[in-house]
Amino acid sequence: MLEKTEQLYEGKAKKVFATNDPSLVIVSYKDDATAFNGAKKGTIVGKGVVNNRMSNFLMEKLEAAGVPTHFVKEISDRETVVKKVSIVPLEVIVRNIAAGSLSKRLGLPEGTPMKRTVIEYCYKCDALDDPMVNEYHILAMEYCTKEELDTIASMALKINEFLKKFFASIKVELVDFKLEFGKTQDGKIVLADEISPDTCRFWDAETHEKLDKDRFRRDMGGVEDAYKEMMKRVLG
Ligand code: TMP
Repeated sequence: MLEKTEQLYEGKAKKVFATNDPSLVIVSYKDDATAFNGAKKGTIVGKGVVNNRMSNFLMEKLEAAGVPTHFVKEISDRETVVKKVSIVPLEVIVRNIAAGSLSKRLGLPEGTPMKRTVIEYCYKCDALDDPMVNEYHILAMEYCTKEELDTIASMALKINEFLKKFFASIKVELVDFKLEFGKTQDGKIVLADEISPDTCRFWDAETHEKLDKDRFRRDMGGVEDAYKEMMKRVLG
C-alpha cells in the first residue's frame, strides 16, 4: 500500500510528497493562483480539482498515443501518484496562434495564426524570471544534452498534434501551452508537470472566448466558470 511520507516541495500550484516507494511521489493540486512570477496572487476555487483531473485524463490519452509521461494513478480529486523524475529546468512553450508574450515581442495581434508551429524555451529560474533561451544556451549551460533536447522537441510537436485534434473535437482552439519534461531514474525523458487551463491558452472555437488562466492574469472575471466549462468539455 502506497503511503505519503514527508513533503518534498511546495510550488505555486502544487505540493509534492515522498512515498514509501522511492520511485514514486504524490502531487497535490492547490487552488492557489499566481501570475507574473508570483507578483500577482489569488485563489481560483476548484482549480486544483480541474487541473488534476484534466491533466490526468490528457496524460493517459497521450500515453496511449505513445508519448511517455510521469502519470501513474489518480488517487483523489486533487492527488495523483506520478513517477519521481528530475525536472529538466526548461519551460517548453508551443504556439499555434500568436498571443501573450509572443504577440508583445513580435508586434503580432493576438489571434494571428502561426504559419509553422513555434517552440520556445525558457530557463526555469524564478530569481531570473524564467528567461528565454535558445538551443545554444541550453547546450552551453548543460541544462540537458543535445540528444535529450531533440527528444523533448519531437515529443512537444507530437503532443501538439495530438492535443490540437483533441481540443478541436470539443470546439476549443489550442492557442499555446507550456510543457515540462523530467528524467526518470533510468534516464528516460517523460512528459511531467501538468496540462491544464493554468498552462494552456484555450479559446472557444466559435466565440474565441478565453477559457483559461488569462481570465485571472488579465482580471477579466469568470475564471471559475471558465475552468468548470473546460472540465465539462474535456471530461464530459
Ligand atoms: P506567454 O505568452 O506568457 O509566454 O505564455 C505562453 C504559454 O505558456 C501560455 O499558454 C501560458 C503558459 N505559461 C505557463 O504555463 N507558465 C508561465 O509561467 C508562463 C509565463 C506561461
